[in-house]
Amino acid sequence: MSEDNRIKSVAIIGAGAAGAITAAAFAAEKYFERIQVYERRESAGGTWIYDSSPLQLLITPGGLPSDVDPPLTIPNCLPRIASPNKQERFSQTPIYSSLTTNVPDIAMSFSDLAFPYGPFVPHHIPKQYIESYFSNHGTDSLLMLNTTVEDVSIIKSSSKLRERWKLTLRKYDAARHIDVWWEDNFDAVVLANGHYSVPFVPEVKGLQLYLKRFLNRVVHSKIYRTPAVYKDKRVIVIGNSASGHDVAAELVSTACLPVYQSRRSASRWDGSEPPPGIAWKPVIREYLPSGRIVFEDDTYLDDIDTVIYCTGYKPSFPFWNVQNNGRNIWDYKKNKLIKTYLHTFFQDFSTLGIVGIPRVLTFRSFEYQAIALARIFSNREFGKLPSVEEMEKWDSTREKTRSREGKKYHDIEWETGETLDWLGSLYRIAGLGLLTGEGRVPPVLGGEVRWAIEHLRKYPEPGKDEKSNDEQPEDVWVLVERAAAKDLLSFI
Ligand SMILES: Cc1cc2nc3c(=O)[nH]c(=O)nc-3n(C[C@H](O)[C@H](O)[C@H](O)COP(=O)(O)OP(=O)(O)OC[C@H]3O[C@@H](n4cnc5c(N)ncnc54)[C@H](O)[C@@H]3O)c2cc1C
Ligand SMILES: NC(=O)c1ccc[n+]([C@@H]2O[C@H](COP(=O)([O-])OP(=O)(O)OC[C@H]3O[C@@H](n4cnc5c(N)ncnc54)[C@H](OP(=O)(O)O)[C@@H]3O)[C@@H](O)[C@H]2O)c1
Repeated sequence: MSEDNRIKSVAIIGAGAAGAITAAAFAAEKYFERIQVYERRESAGGTWIYDSSPLQLLITPGGLPSDVDPPLTIPNCLPRIASPNKQERFSQTPIYSSLTTNVPDIAMSFSDLAFPYGPFVPHHIPKQYIESYFSNHGTDSLLMLNTTVEDVSIIKSSSKLRERWKLTLRKYDAARHIDVWWEDNFDAVVLANGHYSVPFVPEVKGLQLYLKRFLNRVVHSKIYRTPAVYKDKRVIVIGNSASGHDVAAELVSTACLPVYQSRRSASRWDGSEPPPGIAWKPVIREYLPSGRIVFEDDTYLDDIDTVIYCTGYKPSFPFWNVQNNGRNIWDYKKNKLIKTYLHTFFQDFSTLGIVGIPRVLTFRSFEYQAIALARIFSNREFGKLPSVEEMEKWDSTREKTRSREGKKYHDIEWETGETLDWLGSLYRIAGLGLLTGEGRVPPVLGGEVRWAIEHLRKYPEPGKDEKSNDEQPEDVWVLVERAAAKDLLSFI
Protein backbone atom coordinates (compact mmCIF):
# COMPACT_ATOMS: atom_id res chain seq x y z
CA MET A 1 0.00 0.00 0.00
CA SER A 2 1.32 3.44 -0.89
CA GLU A 3 2.23 5.79 1.94
CA ASP A 4 -0.52 8.18 0.74
CA ASN A 5 -3.15 5.49 0.96
CA ARG A 6 -2.31 4.02 4.32
CA ILE A 7 -4.61 4.72 7.26
CA LYS A 8 -2.82 7.13 9.54
CA SER A 9 -5.61 8.68 11.56
CA VAL A 10 -8.58 6.99 13.23
CA ALA A 11 -11.55 8.47 15.08
CA ILE A 12 -13.41 6.31 17.59
CA ILE A 13 -16.92 7.44 18.52
CA GLY A 14 -17.74 6.60 22.14
CA ALA A 15 -15.78 5.77 25.29
CA GLY A 16 -17.82 2.94 26.72
CA ALA A 17 -16.47 -0.60 26.84
CA ALA A 18 -16.37 -0.81 23.03
CA GLY A 19 -14.46 2.47 22.71
CA ALA A 20 -12.06 1.46 25.50
CA ILE A 21 -11.00 -1.79 23.86
CA THR A 22 -10.95 -0.25 20.38
CA ALA A 23 -8.58 2.48 21.57
CA ALA A 24 -6.36 -0.13 23.26
CA ALA A 25 -6.30 -2.40 20.19
CA PHE A 26 -5.52 0.46 17.79
CA ALA A 27 -2.85 1.92 20.09
CA ALA A 28 -1.23 -1.52 20.45
CA GLU A 29 -0.58 -1.67 16.70
CA LYS A 30 1.85 1.28 17.14
CA TYR A 31 1.03 2.06 13.54
CA PHE A 32 -1.46 4.90 13.53
CA GLU A 33 -0.18 8.46 13.83
CA ARG A 34 -3.34 9.79 15.38
CA ILE A 35 -6.13 8.07 17.33
CA GLN A 36 -8.86 10.23 18.83
CA VAL A 37 -11.72 8.97 20.99
CA TYR A 38 -14.70 11.29 21.12
CA GLU A 39 -17.07 10.91 24.06
CA ARG A 40 -20.10 13.09 24.63
CA ARG A 41 -20.21 12.44 28.38
CA GLU A 42 -17.94 13.92 31.04
CA SER A 43 -16.09 10.63 31.56
CA ALA A 44 -15.48 7.25 30.00
CA GLY A 45 -17.76 4.40 31.10
CA GLY A 46 -20.67 4.51 28.66
CA THR A 47 -23.75 2.65 29.84
CA TRP A 48 -22.14 2.14 33.23
CA ILE A 49 -22.12 5.81 34.25
CA TYR A 50 -24.82 6.16 36.91
CA ASP A 51 -27.11 9.19 36.53
CA SER A 52 -28.87 9.40 39.88
CA SER A 53 -31.56 11.93 38.90
CA PRO A 54 -32.49 11.41 35.27
CA LEU A 55 -34.79 13.88 33.59
CA GLN A 56 -38.20 12.64 32.43
CA LEU A 57 -38.14 11.60 28.76
CA LEU A 58 -40.89 12.30 26.32
CA ILE A 59 -42.71 9.05 25.50
CA THR A 60 -43.36 8.66 21.76
CA PRO A 61 -45.26 5.43 21.08
CA GLY A 62 -43.75 3.64 18.08
CA GLY A 63 -41.21 6.49 17.71
CA LEU A 64 -37.99 5.44 16.02
CA PRO A 65 -34.64 7.21 16.57
CA SER A 66 -34.95 8.85 13.16
CA ASP A 67 -38.01 10.70 14.58
CA VAL A 68 -37.08 11.17 18.22
CA ASP A 69 -33.29 11.58 17.94
CA PRO A 70 -32.81 13.56 14.72
CA PRO A 71 -29.50 15.21 13.74
CA LEU A 72 -28.82 18.68 15.13
CA THR A 73 -28.72 21.60 12.74
CA ILE A 74 -25.05 22.28 12.18
CA PRO A 75 -24.11 25.98 12.22
CA ASN A 76 -22.63 27.45 9.05
CA CYS A 77 -18.96 28.30 8.76
CA LEU A 78 -17.12 26.20 11.31
CA PRO A 79 -15.29 26.58 13.66
CA ARG A 80 -17.87 28.48 15.59
CA ILE A 81 -19.18 29.17 19.07
CA ALA A 82 -22.93 28.80 19.62
CA SER A 83 -25.41 28.74 22.46
CA PRO A 84 -25.60 25.31 24.08
CA ASN A 85 -27.74 22.66 22.46
CA LYS A 86 -31.16 22.13 24.04
CA GLN A 87 -32.32 19.19 21.94
CA GLU A 88 -32.67 15.87 23.79
CA ARG A 89 -29.68 13.67 22.86
CA PHE A 90 -30.47 10.68 25.13
CA SER A 91 -27.03 10.73 26.70
CA GLN A 92 -28.25 9.80 30.20
CA THR A 93 -27.82 6.11 30.99
CA PRO A 94 -30.40 3.53 32.14
CA ILE A 95 -28.44 2.19 35.12
CA TYR A 96 -30.59 1.89 38.25
CA SER A 97 -29.41 2.01 41.81
CA SER A 98 -29.36 -1.73 42.62
CA LEU A 99 -28.15 -2.92 39.20
CA THR A 100 -25.49 -5.60 39.21
CA THR A 101 -23.89 -7.26 36.19
CA ASN A 102 -25.53 -10.38 34.79
CA VAL A 103 -22.53 -12.00 33.11
CA PRO A 104 -19.77 -13.64 35.23
CA ASP A 105 -16.76 -11.34 35.62
CA ILE A 106 -14.33 -13.74 33.97
CA ALA A 107 -16.43 -13.75 30.78
CA MET A 108 -17.40 -10.10 30.86
CA SER A 109 -14.01 -8.46 31.41
CA PHE A 110 -11.40 -7.90 28.74
CA SER A 111 -8.79 -10.67 28.66
CA ASP A 112 -5.88 -8.60 30.01
CA LEU A 113 -7.46 -7.02 33.10
CA ALA A 114 -9.67 -8.78 35.65
CA PHE A 115 -12.63 -7.24 37.45
CA PRO A 116 -11.61 -6.66 41.09
CA TYR A 117 -14.09 -9.32 42.25
CA GLY A 118 -17.01 -11.33 40.95
CA PRO A 119 -18.86 -13.14 39.65
CA PHE A 120 -21.59 -10.46 39.52
CA VAL A 121 -20.69 -6.94 40.53
CA PRO A 122 -22.47 -3.66 41.27
CA HIS A 123 -22.65 -1.17 38.42
CA HIS A 124 -19.87 1.10 39.69
CA ILE A 125 -17.34 -1.69 39.10
CA PRO A 126 -17.65 -1.80 35.27
CA LYS A 127 -17.70 2.01 35.28
CA GLN A 128 -14.42 2.20 37.24
CA TYR A 129 -13.05 -0.67 35.16
CA ILE A 130 -13.63 1.09 31.84
CA GLU A 131 -12.08 4.32 33.10
CA SER A 132 -9.07 2.43 34.46
CA TYR A 133 -8.79 0.50 31.23
CA PHE A 134 -8.09 3.73 29.39
CA SER A 135 -5.43 4.81 31.90
CA ASN A 136 -3.90 1.31 32.20
CA HIS A 137 -3.33 1.28 28.46
CA GLY A 138 -2.20 4.90 28.23
CA THR A 139 -5.16 5.64 25.99
CA ASP A 140 -6.70 8.18 28.37
CA SER A 141 -4.64 10.79 26.50
CA LEU A 142 -6.61 9.95 23.34
CA LEU A 143 -9.93 10.89 24.94
CA MET A 144 -11.78 14.06 24.10
CA LEU A 145 -14.65 14.28 26.59
CA ASN A 146 -17.87 16.33 26.53
CA THR A 147 -17.56 16.13 22.77
CA THR A 148 -20.37 14.84 20.60
CA VAL A 149 -19.77 13.71 17.05
CA GLU A 150 -22.68 15.42 15.30
CA ASP A 151 -21.91 14.47 11.71
CA VAL A 152 -19.91 11.80 9.92
CA SER A 153 -19.59 12.39 6.18
CA ILE A 154 -17.47 10.62 3.64
CA ILE A 155 -14.96 12.68 1.68
CA LYS A 156 -14.80 10.99 -1.68
CA SER A 157 -11.52 11.15 -3.51
CA SER A 158 -11.38 11.96 -7.19
CA SER A 159 -7.95 10.36 -7.59
CA LYS A 160 -6.78 6.87 -6.67
CA LEU A 161 -6.52 7.94 -3.06
CA ARG A 162 -8.87 6.27 -0.65
CA GLU A 163 -11.91 7.94 0.89
CA ARG A 164 -11.57 9.98 4.09
CA TRP A 165 -14.12 11.05 6.70
CA LYS A 166 -15.14 14.49 7.88
CA LEU A 167 -16.41 14.65 11.45
CA THR A 168 -18.38 17.60 12.76
CA LEU A 169 -17.82 17.97 16.48
CA ARG A 170 -19.56 19.83 19.27
CA LYS A 171 -17.90 20.31 22.63
CA TYR A 172 -19.86 21.68 25.52
CA ASP A 173 -17.77 24.20 27.44
CA ALA A 174 -19.38 24.23 30.89
CA ALA A 175 -17.32 27.14 32.21
CA ARG A 176 -18.54 29.45 29.47
CA HIS A 177 -21.87 27.65 28.96
CA ILE A 178 -21.36 27.50 25.20
CA ASP A 179 -21.04 24.88 22.47
CA VAL A 180 -17.84 24.96 20.46
CA TRP A 181 -18.27 23.54 16.96
CA TRP A 182 -15.51 22.47 14.60
CA GLU A 183 -14.60 19.90 11.96
CA ASP A 184 -11.81 17.36 11.73
CA ASN A 185 -10.85 14.81 9.07
CA PHE A 186 -9.77 11.20 9.58
CA ASP A 187 -8.68 8.32 7.39
CA ALA A 188 -10.88 5.85 9.24
CA VAL A 189 -13.74 5.80 11.76
CA VAL A 190 -14.85 3.18 14.26
CA LEU A 191 -18.38 3.47 15.66
CA ALA A 192 -18.51 2.47 19.33
CA ASN A 193 -21.54 4.56 20.20
CA GLY A 194 -23.61 1.88 21.96
CA HIS A 195 -27.25 1.02 21.34
CA TYR A 196 -29.04 1.42 24.65
CA SER A 197 -29.64 5.16 24.61
CA VAL A 198 -32.89 5.81 22.76
CA PRO A 199 -35.77 4.07 24.55
CA PHE A 200 -38.47 2.31 22.59
CA VAL A 201 -42.16 2.27 23.53
CA PRO A 202 -44.48 0.31 21.20
CA GLU A 203 -47.54 1.85 19.63
CA VAL A 204 -50.74 0.72 21.40
CA LYS A 205 -54.28 1.79 20.64
CA GLY A 206 -55.27 4.71 22.87
CA LEU A 207 -51.77 5.20 24.37
CA GLN A 208 -51.26 8.62 22.77
CA LEU A 209 -54.44 9.98 24.40
CA TYR A 210 -53.64 8.24 27.70
CA LEU A 211 -50.27 10.04 27.76
CA LYS A 212 -51.97 13.40 27.29
CA ARG A 213 -54.71 12.75 29.78
CA PHE A 214 -52.58 11.19 32.53
CA LEU A 215 -49.37 13.23 32.54
CA ASN A 216 -46.23 11.45 33.80
CA ARG A 217 -48.13 8.24 34.43
CA VAL A 218 -46.16 6.39 31.74
CA VAL A 219 -42.37 6.11 31.99
CA HIS A 220 -39.64 4.03 30.38
CA SER A 221 -37.25 1.87 32.43
CA LYS A 222 -34.45 4.15 31.20
CA ILE A 223 -35.37 6.60 33.96
CA TYR A 224 -36.19 4.00 36.65
CA ARG A 225 -33.76 4.25 39.56
CA THR A 226 -35.30 2.91 42.77
CA PRO A 227 -38.51 1.20 43.94
CA ALA A 228 -38.92 3.72 46.79
CA VAL A 229 -40.54 6.18 44.38
CA TYR A 230 -43.40 3.72 43.80
CA LYS A 231 -44.33 3.13 47.44
CA ASP A 232 -47.97 2.01 47.68
CA LYS A 233 -48.54 2.72 43.97
CA ARG A 234 -50.41 0.40 41.62
CA VAL A 235 -47.83 -0.33 38.97
CA ILE A 236 -47.75 -2.27 35.74
CA VAL A 237 -44.43 -3.21 34.17
CA ILE A 238 -44.38 -3.94 30.43
CA GLY A 239 -41.69 -6.30 29.13
CA ASN A 240 -40.05 -9.44 30.37
CA SER A 241 -36.37 -9.22 29.56
CA ALA A 242 -33.66 -8.15 32.03
CA SER A 243 -35.19 -4.73 32.82
CA GLY A 244 -38.78 -5.99 33.09
CA HIS A 245 -37.68 -8.84 35.32
CA ASP A 246 -35.56 -6.68 37.64
CA VAL A 247 -37.95 -3.75 37.90
CA ALA A 248 -40.99 -5.95 38.63
CA ALA A 249 -39.05 -7.94 41.23
CA GLU A 250 -37.80 -4.80 43.01
CA LEU A 251 -41.23 -3.18 43.09
CA VAL A 252 -42.65 -6.07 45.13
CA SER A 253 -40.88 -4.58 48.17
CA THR A 254 -42.63 -1.19 47.96
CA ALA A 255 -45.53 -1.01 45.51
CA CYS A 256 -49.13 -2.08 46.00
CA LEU A 257 -49.37 -5.84 45.47
CA PRO A 258 -49.61 -7.47 43.12
CA VAL A 259 -47.21 -5.72 40.81
CA TYR A 260 -48.55 -6.43 37.32
CA GLN A 261 -46.20 -7.51 34.57
CA SER A 262 -47.30 -7.63 30.94
CA ARG A 263 -45.32 -10.29 29.04
CA ARG A 264 -45.17 -10.90 25.32
CA SER A 265 -43.01 -13.97 25.76
CA ALA A 266 -41.61 -16.08 28.59
CA SER A 267 -38.05 -15.47 29.73
CA ARG A 268 -35.58 -18.14 30.78
CA TRP A 269 -36.28 -17.24 34.39
CA ASP A 270 -40.04 -17.81 34.25
CA GLY A 271 -41.56 -20.86 35.82
CA SER A 272 -45.17 -21.89 35.32
CA GLU A 273 -46.37 -19.40 37.97
CA PRO A 274 -45.30 -15.80 38.59
CA PRO A 275 -43.06 -15.14 41.61
CA PRO A 276 -44.86 -14.10 44.85
CA GLY A 277 -46.20 -10.54 44.65
CA ILE A 278 -46.28 -10.44 40.84
CA ALA A 279 -49.31 -11.04 38.60
CA TRP A 280 -48.70 -11.77 34.93
CA LYS A 281 -50.80 -10.17 32.24
CA PRO A 282 -50.66 -10.61 28.47
CA VAL A 283 -49.88 -7.81 26.00
CA ILE A 284 -51.95 -4.61 26.32
CA ARG A 285 -54.58 -4.29 23.58
CA GLU A 286 -55.88 -0.81 24.33
CA TYR A 287 -55.80 2.16 26.68
CA LEU A 288 -59.32 3.58 27.16
CA PRO A 289 -60.00 7.31 27.75
CA SER A 290 -61.28 6.42 31.25
CA GLY A 291 -57.79 5.18 32.16
CA ARG A 292 -58.79 1.53 31.89
CA ILE A 293 -56.05 -0.72 30.47
CA VAL A 294 -57.41 -3.64 28.44
CA PHE A 295 -55.35 -6.75 27.72
CA GLU A 296 -55.41 -9.18 24.84
CA ASP A 297 -57.32 -11.74 26.93
CA ASP A 298 -60.12 -9.14 27.53
CA THR A 299 -59.16 -8.68 31.19
CA TYR A 300 -58.57 -5.10 32.31
CA LEU A 301 -57.10 -2.94 35.07
CA ASP A 302 -58.40 0.35 36.40
CA ASP A 303 -56.67 2.93 38.61
CA ILE A 304 -53.11 2.14 37.65
CA ASP A 305 -50.76 4.85 39.01
CA THR A 306 -47.71 4.10 36.86
CA VAL A 307 -46.96 2.19 33.69
CA ILE A 308 -43.28 1.34 33.32
CA TYR A 309 -42.29 0.35 29.79
CA CYS A 310 -39.29 -2.01 29.91
CA THR A 311 -39.46 -2.52 26.17
CA GLY A 312 -35.84 -1.88 25.35
CA TYR A 313 -34.04 0.49 23.01
CA LYS A 314 -33.38 1.19 19.32
CA PRO A 315 -29.89 1.91 17.98
CA SER A 316 -29.46 5.51 16.92
CA PHE A 317 -26.97 7.06 14.51
CA PRO A 318 -28.02 10.72 14.26
CA PHE A 319 -24.50 11.66 13.17
CA TRP A 320 -24.60 9.44 10.08
CA ASN A 321 -25.07 11.81 7.15
CA VAL A 322 -27.38 9.84 4.85
CA GLN A 323 -27.19 12.37 2.04
CA ASN A 324 -23.39 12.60 1.93
CA ASN A 325 -22.82 8.91 2.58
CA GLY A 326 -25.37 7.80 0.02
CA ARG A 327 -27.39 5.47 2.19
CA ASN A 328 -28.75 4.76 5.66
CA ILE A 329 -26.68 2.82 8.15
CA TRP A 330 -29.46 1.00 10.05
CA ASP A 331 -32.61 -0.64 8.70
CA TYR A 332 -35.33 -0.21 11.34
CA LYS A 333 -37.70 -2.57 9.53
CA LYS A 334 -35.19 -5.39 9.42
CA ASN A 335 -33.62 -4.31 12.71
CA LYS A 336 -30.07 -4.54 11.39
CA LEU A 337 -27.03 -2.67 10.18
CA ILE A 338 -26.98 -2.26 6.42
CA LYS A 339 -24.25 -3.95 4.37
CA THR A 340 -22.00 -5.31 7.07
CA TYR A 341 -19.85 -8.38 7.39
CA LEU A 342 -19.41 -10.25 10.69
CA HIS A 343 -21.34 -7.41 12.39
CA THR A 344 -18.06 -5.43 12.30
CA PHE A 345 -16.96 -4.47 8.77
CA PHE A 346 -18.82 -2.58 6.07
CA GLN A 347 -19.04 -3.99 2.56
CA ASP A 348 -18.97 -0.60 0.85
CA PHE A 349 -16.91 1.48 3.31
CA SER A 350 -13.54 -0.19 3.83
CA THR A 351 -12.39 2.45 6.34
CA LEU A 352 -15.45 2.25 8.58
CA GLY A 353 -15.94 -0.28 11.37
CA ILE A 354 -18.34 -0.87 14.23
CA VAL A 355 -17.83 -2.52 17.60
CA GLY A 356 -20.53 -3.57 20.03
CA ILE A 357 -23.74 -4.16 18.08
CA PRO A 358 -24.45 -7.89 18.45
CA ARG A 359 -26.33 -9.23 21.46
CA VAL A 360 -23.74 -11.66 22.67
CA LEU A 361 -21.01 -11.61 25.30
CA THR A 362 -20.24 -7.93 25.65
CA PHE A 363 -16.78 -6.61 26.56
CA ARG A 364 -15.01 -9.86 25.63
CA SER A 365 -16.56 -9.98 22.14
CA PHE A 366 -15.77 -6.32 21.58
CA GLU A 367 -12.14 -7.30 22.08
CA TYR A 368 -12.15 -9.67 19.08
CA GLN A 369 -13.95 -7.09 16.93
CA ALA A 370 -11.54 -4.31 17.91
CA ILE A 371 -8.39 -6.38 17.31
CA ALA A 372 -9.64 -7.58 13.91
CA LEU A 373 -10.45 -4.00 12.87
CA ALA A 374 -7.11 -2.66 14.12
CA ARG A 375 -5.32 -5.35 12.16
CA ILE A 376 -7.26 -4.73 8.95
CA PHE A 377 -6.79 -0.96 9.21
CA SER A 378 -3.04 -1.38 9.82
CA ASN A 379 -2.90 -3.73 6.83
CA ARG A 380 -1.37 -6.49 8.95
CA GLU A 381 -4.29 -8.90 9.06
CA PHE A 382 -3.65 -12.61 8.92
CA GLY A 383 -6.84 -13.51 7.08
CA LYS A 384 -7.99 -11.15 4.33
CA LEU A 385 -11.61 -10.05 4.22
CA PRO A 386 -13.51 -11.86 1.48
CA SER A 387 -14.59 -10.09 -1.71
CA VAL A 388 -17.50 -7.64 -1.58
CA GLU A 389 -19.69 -10.27 -3.34
CA GLU A 390 -18.89 -12.84 -0.66
CA MET A 391 -19.59 -10.36 2.12
CA GLU A 392 -22.93 -9.51 0.49
CA LYS A 393 -23.73 -13.20 0.32
CA TRP A 394 -22.88 -13.66 4.01
CA ASP A 395 -25.15 -10.74 4.89
CA SER A 396 -28.12 -11.80 2.77
CA THR A 397 -27.86 -15.44 3.83
CA ARG A 398 -27.83 -14.45 7.49
CA GLU A 399 -30.74 -12.09 6.94
CA LYS A 400 -32.81 -14.83 5.31
CA THR A 401 -31.90 -17.57 7.75
CA ARG A 402 -32.51 -15.49 10.86
CA SER A 403 -35.78 -14.15 9.54
CA ARG A 404 -36.94 -17.68 8.63
CA GLU A 405 -36.11 -18.82 12.18
CA GLY A 406 -37.90 -15.79 13.68
CA LYS A 407 -34.63 -14.59 15.22
CA LYS A 408 -32.92 -11.23 15.25
CA TYR A 409 -30.06 -10.64 12.81
CA HIS A 410 -27.63 -9.31 15.44
CA ASP A 411 -28.44 -11.85 18.20
CA ILE A 412 -25.59 -14.34 18.31
CA GLU A 413 -26.38 -17.50 20.22
CA TRP A 414 -24.14 -19.26 22.65
CA GLU A 415 -25.71 -22.69 22.88
CA THR A 416 -25.69 -23.39 19.13
CA GLY A 417 -21.95 -22.70 19.00
CA GLU A 418 -22.58 -19.58 16.94
CA THR A 419 -20.65 -17.31 19.31
CA LEU A 420 -17.52 -19.45 19.04
CA ASP A 421 -17.84 -19.55 15.24
CA TRP A 422 -18.19 -15.78 15.06
CA LEU A 423 -15.31 -15.08 17.44
CA GLY A 424 -13.29 -17.68 15.54
CA SER A 425 -13.81 -15.79 12.28
CA LEU A 426 -12.59 -12.55 13.87
CA TYR A 427 -9.71 -14.45 15.49
CA ARG A 428 -8.60 -15.82 12.14
CA ILE A 429 -8.75 -12.39 10.47
CA ALA A 430 -6.65 -10.83 13.22
CA GLY A 431 -4.06 -13.55 13.71
CA LEU A 432 -0.97 -12.79 15.75
CA GLY A 433 0.62 -9.39 16.13
CA LEU A 434 4.15 -8.76 14.91
CA LEU A 435 7.15 -10.70 16.24
CA THR A 436 8.47 -7.38 17.55
CA GLY A 437 5.43 -6.92 19.80
CA GLU A 438 3.17 -4.59 17.87
CA GLY A 439 -0.51 -5.51 17.89
CA ARG A 440 -2.69 -7.36 20.39
CA VAL A 441 -3.27 -11.06 20.07
CA PRO A 442 -6.94 -12.06 20.16
CA PRO A 443 -7.49 -14.01 23.39
CA VAL A 444 -8.45 -17.65 23.64
CA LEU A 445 -11.90 -18.34 25.00
CA GLY A 446 -10.61 -20.95 27.39
CA GLY A 447 -12.35 -23.68 29.33
CA GLU A 448 -12.62 -21.62 32.51
CA VAL A 449 -14.46 -18.78 30.75
CA ARG A 450 -16.78 -21.14 28.90
CA TRP A 451 -17.49 -23.02 32.13
CA ALA A 452 -18.40 -19.76 33.89
CA ILE A 453 -20.78 -18.76 31.09
CA GLU A 454 -22.53 -22.10 31.20
CA HIS A 455 -22.64 -22.67 34.95
CA LEU A 456 -22.77 -19.36 36.83
CA ARG A 457 -26.13 -17.63 36.77
CA LYS A 458 -27.29 -14.50 38.47
CA TYR A 459 -30.90 -15.68 38.47
CA PRO A 460 -31.98 -19.25 39.17
CA GLU A 461 -34.11 -20.82 36.46
CA PRO A 462 -37.29 -22.23 37.99
CA GLY A 463 -37.59 -25.97 37.90
CA LYS A 464 -33.96 -26.31 36.83
CA ASP A 465 -31.71 -24.50 39.24
CA GLU A 466 -33.48 -24.37 42.60
CA LYS A 467 -32.03 -27.60 43.87
CA SER A 468 -28.50 -26.30 43.74
CA ASN A 469 -29.28 -23.13 45.69
CA ASP A 470 -28.54 -24.58 49.14
CA GLU A 471 -25.03 -25.50 48.15
CA GLN A 472 -24.08 -21.96 47.16
CA PRO A 473 -22.03 -19.50 49.21
CA GLU A 474 -24.56 -16.72 48.53
CA ASP A 475 -28.18 -16.94 47.51
CA VAL A 476 -27.90 -14.09 45.04
CA TRP A 477 -26.33 -16.19 42.33
CA VAL A 478 -26.30 -19.89 41.52
CA LEU A 479 -24.19 -22.68 40.10
CA VAL A 480 -26.29 -24.62 37.63
CA GLU A 481 -26.55 -27.58 35.36
CA ARG A 482 -27.21 -26.89 31.67
CA ALA A 483 -30.68 -25.62 30.76
CA ALA A 484 -32.74 -25.01 27.62
CA ALA A 485 -35.49 -22.58 26.35
CA LYS A 486 -34.30 -19.14 25.14
CA ASP A 487 -30.56 -18.98 24.48
CA LEU A 488 -28.36 -18.96 27.57
CA LEU A 489 -27.24 -15.39 26.88
CA SER A 490 -30.50 -14.14 25.34
CA PHE A 491 -30.95 -11.60 28.14
CA ILE A 492 -27.71 -9.70 27.46
C1 LIG B 1 -29.36 -1.34 31.99
C2 LIG B 1 -28.28 -2.12 31.31
C3 LIG B 1 -27.62 -3.12 32.00
C4 LIG B 1 -26.65 -3.87 31.37
N1 LIG B 1 -26.05 -4.89 32.06
C5 LIG B 1 -25.11 -5.64 31.45
C6 LIG B 1 -24.45 -6.67 32.16
O1 LIG B 1 -24.75 -6.93 33.31
N2 LIG B 1 -23.49 -7.37 31.54
C7 LIG B 1 -23.13 -7.11 30.26
O2 LIG B 1 -22.23 -7.76 29.76
N3 LIG B 1 -23.74 -6.15 29.55
C8 LIG B 1 -24.71 -5.41 30.12
N4 LIG B 1 -25.33 -4.40 29.43
C9 LIG B 1 -24.96 -4.15 28.03
C10 LIG B 1 -23.97 -2.97 27.94
O3 LIG B 1 -24.56 -2.12 27.05
C11 LIG B 1 -22.61 -3.47 27.59
O4 LIG B 1 -22.08 -4.16 28.69
C12 LIG B 1 -21.58 -2.41 27.24
O5 LIG B 1 -21.41 -1.55 28.31
C13 LIG B 1 -21.86 -1.68 25.96
O6 LIG B 1 -20.74 -0.90 25.67
P1 LIG B 1 -20.64 0.05 24.40
O7 LIG B 1 -19.34 0.72 24.51
O8 LIG B 1 -20.97 -0.73 23.19
O9 LIG B 1 -21.84 1.07 24.55
P2 LIG B 1 -22.06 2.19 25.65
O10 LIG B 1 -21.67 1.71 26.97
O11 LIG B 1 -23.43 2.68 25.45
O12 LIG B 1 -21.02 3.33 25.23
C14 LIG B 1 -21.21 4.13 24.09
C15 LIG B 1 -20.63 5.50 24.37
O13 LIG B 1 -20.69 6.29 23.19
C16 LIG B 1 -21.05 7.62 23.55
N5 LIG B 1 -21.63 8.25 22.38
C17 LIG B 1 -22.76 7.89 21.73
N6 LIG B 1 -22.97 8.71 20.68
C18 LIG B 1 -21.94 9.57 20.66
C19 LIG B 1 -21.60 10.64 19.79
N7 LIG B 1 -22.34 10.96 18.75
N8 LIG B 1 -20.48 11.33 20.05
C20 LIG B 1 -19.69 11.02 21.11
N9 LIG B 1 -19.98 10.01 21.98
C21 LIG B 1 -21.08 9.30 21.74
C22 LIG B 1 -22.01 7.43 24.69
O14 LIG B 1 -22.10 8.60 25.48
C23 LIG B 1 -21.38 6.26 25.44
O15 LIG B 1 -20.48 6.70 26.43
C24 LIG B 1 -26.31 -3.61 30.03
C25 LIG B 1 -26.97 -2.60 29.33
C26 LIG B 1 -27.95 -1.86 29.97
C27 LIG B 1 -28.66 -0.80 29.21
N1 LIG C 1 -27.29 -6.31 34.48
C1 LIG C 1 -28.59 -6.48 34.57
O1 LIG C 1 -29.07 -7.15 35.45
C2 LIG C 1 -29.48 -5.82 33.57
C3 LIG C 1 -30.69 -5.27 33.96
C4 LIG C 1 -31.48 -4.61 33.02
C5 LIG C 1 -31.07 -4.56 31.70
N2 LIG C 1 -29.90 -5.14 31.34
C6 LIG C 1 -29.44 -5.10 29.94
O2 LIG C 1 -30.00 -3.99 29.29
C7 LIG C 1 -30.20 -4.28 27.93
C8 LIG C 1 -31.65 -3.96 27.57
O3 LIG C 1 -32.51 -4.83 28.29
P1 LIG C 1 -34.07 -4.49 28.42
O4 LIG C 1 -34.68 -5.54 29.26
O5 LIG C 1 -34.23 -3.08 28.82
O6 LIG C 1 -34.58 -4.56 26.90
P2 LIG C 1 -34.71 -5.84 25.96
O7 LIG C 1 -33.80 -6.91 26.41
O8 LIG C 1 -34.60 -5.36 24.58
O9 LIG C 1 -36.18 -6.38 26.22
C9 LIG C 1 -37.30 -5.72 25.76
C10 LIG C 1 -38.53 -6.41 26.31
O10 LIG C 1 -39.67 -5.70 25.84
C11 LIG C 1 -40.55 -6.61 25.19
N3 LIG C 1 -41.19 -5.92 24.08
C12 LIG C 1 -40.58 -5.27 23.06
N4 LIG C 1 -41.48 -4.77 22.24
C13 LIG C 1 -42.70 -5.10 22.75
C14 LIG C 1 -44.04 -4.87 22.35
N5 LIG C 1 -44.32 -4.23 21.21
N6 LIG C 1 -45.02 -5.35 23.15
C15 LIG C 1 -44.73 -6.04 24.27
N7 LIG C 1 -43.48 -6.29 24.70
C16 LIG C 1 -42.50 -5.83 23.94
C17 LIG C 1 -39.67 -7.75 24.71
O11 LIG C 1 -40.45 -8.89 24.52
P3 LIG C 1 -39.94 -10.13 23.64
O12 LIG C 1 -38.93 -10.81 24.50
O13 LIG C 1 -41.16 -10.91 23.39
O14 LIG C 1 -39.33 -9.54 22.40
C18 LIG C 1 -38.70 -7.86 25.87
O15 LIG C 1 -39.26 -8.58 26.92
C19 LIG C 1 -29.81 -5.74 27.76
O16 LIG C 1 -28.48 -5.81 27.35
C20 LIG C 1 -29.89 -6.29 29.16
O17 LIG C 1 -29.03 -7.39 29.41
C21 LIG C 1 -29.11 -5.76 32.25
